[in-house]
Amino acid sequence: MDLAEAIQKDIWHPREEESSVRLPPYTPDQVIRLERVHKVYNTGEVEVHALRGVSLLIKRGEFVAVMGPSGSGKSTLMNILGCLDRPTRGRYFLEGVDVSTLSKNELADIRNRRIGFVFQAFNLVPRASALENVELPLLYAGVPAKERVRRAREALAAVGLADKERSFPNQLSGGQQQRVAIARALVNNPSIILADEPTGNLDSRTSVEVMEIFQRLNRERNLTLIIVTHEHDIAQYAKRIILFRDGRVRHDVPVEVPREAREILAAMPPEEESDEDLGDLEGGFSGLRAK
Ligand SMILES: Nc1ncnc2c1ncn2[C@@H]1O[C@H](COP(=O)(O)OP(=O)(O)OP(=O)(O)O)[C@@H](O)[C@H]1O
Ligand SMILES: [Mg+2]
Repeated sequence: MDLAEAIQKDIWHPREEESSVRLPPYTPDQVIRLERVHKVYNTGEVEVHALRGVSLLIKRGEFVAVMGPSGSGKSTLMNILGCLDRPTRGRYFLEGVDVSTLSKNELADIRNRRIGFVFQAFNLVPRASALENVELPLLYAGVPAKERVRRAREALAAVGLADKERSFPNQLSGGQQQRVAIARALVNNPSIILADEPTGNLDSRTSVEVMEIFQRLNRERNLTLIIVTHEHDIAQYAKRIILFRDGRVRHDVPVEVPREAREILAAMPPEEESDEDLGDLEGGFSGLRAK
């Protein structure tokens, strides 16, 4: 059993003092600083206390995996980190700016400039090409057309999809669609990338390919990455694992030796030639049926 599995199953316990977090003073390398953040959803009759005093520091260049059972507050945390929502109580500093007090417009502005999102369901615009999808955040930011195309091409190349810029999402595999989504998240040069179960809809090889891209961006660009995952083996590609339970940080531990996506990919069997195989197989089946 690995560490992620052990903490997920709650059979690994950190030293006592680690569970009562007291944050050190602010320093400029703190990209994210949460101070006793609470989130209460008020849906008329019931109140849901989704986050219960989360204090957290994430520094530039970290690669963090957030784990925890369903309903433990992971997406709520990501929404707050991504300035899609505000804490009910507590403070959130993004690159030193207290964003918990900003107006909706100010939040939208920060979100567009500083944060890249990657979702489980890719969320691409179906009628737009790969290139146009990646251009979208730049369009919102008012970047001129020529510059948009140049930067979108660069981002697509960074995820290995330079040859797919004219393809539409339905002409791309799941892994390729997720890479377009990563390029779109990258194109604004954000300070952080937030990914909520980015490999949730992908098979195991494609998941490792996505993790390889994340590891490369983290290393080469010192990009700060935060991903939510339910999969122990995916969490092991990160450098740090934060486990949530009941709206609180239950464990927060470094991954001593993160998995190397590049090495694991190299050791995996090559991609199946599924189209041709399927053709043969179908031929075989129809042959059988014909008898
Ligand atoms: N918009 C909302 N309105 C009301 N309650 C909400 C809302 N979003 C989340 N909740 C509640 O807050 C709690 C935390 O939800 P959250 O989505 O953060 O969990 P999660 O850890 O992401 O779970 P999962 O692994 O299933 O995605 C849950 O009890 C959920 O029902
Ligand atoms: Mg969630």
